[in-house]
Amino acid sequence: MGPSKLHVLFCLSSCLVVVHAFDWHDLDPVAYMQSSAWIQGMQLLLPTGSFGHTKIPKGSGPYSVGCTDLMFGYTNQSTFLRLYYPSQDGDFPDAPWIPNKEYFLGLSKFLGFSNFMGNIFNILYGTLTVPAKWESPLRTGEKYPLIIFSHGLGAFRTIYAAIAIELASNGFVVAAVEHRDESASATYYFQDQAAAESGNRSWIYYKSIKKESHTLRNQQLQHRKKECLQALNVLLDLDEGKPAKNVLDSQFDLQQLKGTFDRSRIAIMGHSFGGATTMQSLSEDNRFRCGIALDPWMLPLDEIYCTIPQPLFLIDSETFQRAEDLAEQRKFYQSGEERKMIAIRGSVHHNFADFTFVTGKIIGRLLTLQGEIDSKLAMELINKASLAFLQKYLELDKDFDQWDSLMDGDDENLIPEAGSDTVTLSTTLQSSTGAERENLS
Ligand SMILES: *[C@@H]1O[C@H](CO)[C@@H](O)[C@H](O)[C@H]1NC(C)=O
Ligand SMILES: *[C@@H]1O[C@H](CO)[C@@H](O)[C@H](O)[C@H]1NC(C)=O
Repeated sequence: MGPSKLHVLFCLSSCLVVVHAFDWHDLDPVAYMQSSAWIQGMQLLLPTGSFGHTKIPKGSGPYSVGCTDLMFGYTNQSTFLRLYYPSQDGDFPDAPWIPNKEYFLGLSKFLGFSNFMGNIFNILYGTLTVPAKWESPLRTGEKYPLIIFSHGLGAFRTIYAAIAIELASNGFVVAAVEHRDESASATYYFQDQAAAESGNRSWIYYKSIKKESHTLRNQQLQHRKKECLQALNVLLDLDEGKPAKNVLDSQFDLQQLKGTFDRSRIAIMGHSFGGATTMQSLSEDNRFRCGIALDPWMLPLDEIYCTIPQPLFLIDSETFQRAEDLAEQRKFYQSGEERKMIAIRGSVHHNFADFTFVTGKIIGRLLTLQGEIDSKLAMELINKASLAFLQKYLELDKDFDQWDSLMDGDDENLIPEAGSDTVTLSTTLQSSTGAERENLS
């Protein structure tokens, strides 16, 4: 393999996995490529592209997991989400991970690469699947708590499968909304029924903003919140048995959703921009009984810390939040409501998204898709702490309370943050360079 091919592959791995342009100056790619570590990295990366599935862990809970895509209505006002749910057993294919070429094109655009790269990503990674049964029938006989999930900047509905599958395997239905506020790398809608029937998709790509602005991001935040509430409305209507039509070509029978949700047990969760969306949605809709903000991006938010009466759990990475963001986060304690706040030691911002499982270790570390902590261990901590929180504040009758101590950061891989200035988190994080900070998702 000649150096130019190696270079292309190196770019590929970077583009695919980072949801942001990374800083070539810091990286000194030439020196790195000449080192044997890089060659080793490529060897670790390549096998993941050549097999049919990602390394996203199977759900560890007792339920099989099913997955389907739902779109209700036409135009860019329609609701689009991926639903993960407890499923009947049976022989079904695994769900596609990134199902359309345009998502790869959008990711390349978001990263500042050409369409050519997007096409190559699609060839390499477009056939990967996640461990959930595609369009399998819903498991009946039980009502499930419902979680609305909001994705990060440059992301889209399908790339938080590691979290959603784990929750579904433990008896939750997770609705991962795809946002049309131009913060997703790509998303699509159908203009009308004829377009849906002929499969004529209208694509919306990421809109780059020259200078970060609270005003612009707050407008997107309001848009995102509206989409979360709209998704909740449509799912609850289906639960009541109101007729609705999935405009996507799908085998999944919507009638199954009638009487499925435990309507008194609804939560919201999201990563980065989605973490901010979680907080905004909590403050405006008390149907959400609690929320989990994963490494939330604080910039889009107005000062809403006294307007969230529900329990809120902040799970940060170790490197993303600056001291001033942590100070903002700590303000949520001022309301005197139920709050939990921890950070995962040795983790980075991208430890929460599926990309952390797609590359080998060296490339992953290099591109800050992975931190010092093992990605699988970090994901286990995120999921177990979340399950403990959901059991406590949705009052579930499960055994997730075995992980209660994680909510207080009581683990060698966690950093506790009780909301007082005496705790270590701010000092630990103060030293972080903020380099990762530039690169949101
Ligand atoms: C959505 O559609 C409306 C009406 O056609 C348009 O004004 C608006 O710019 C669109 N928004 C996006 C994000 O495409
Ligand atoms: C697809 O939809 C777009 C936007 O609604 C429309 O302008 C275009 O003519 C359609 N293409 C076909 C082949 O129907």
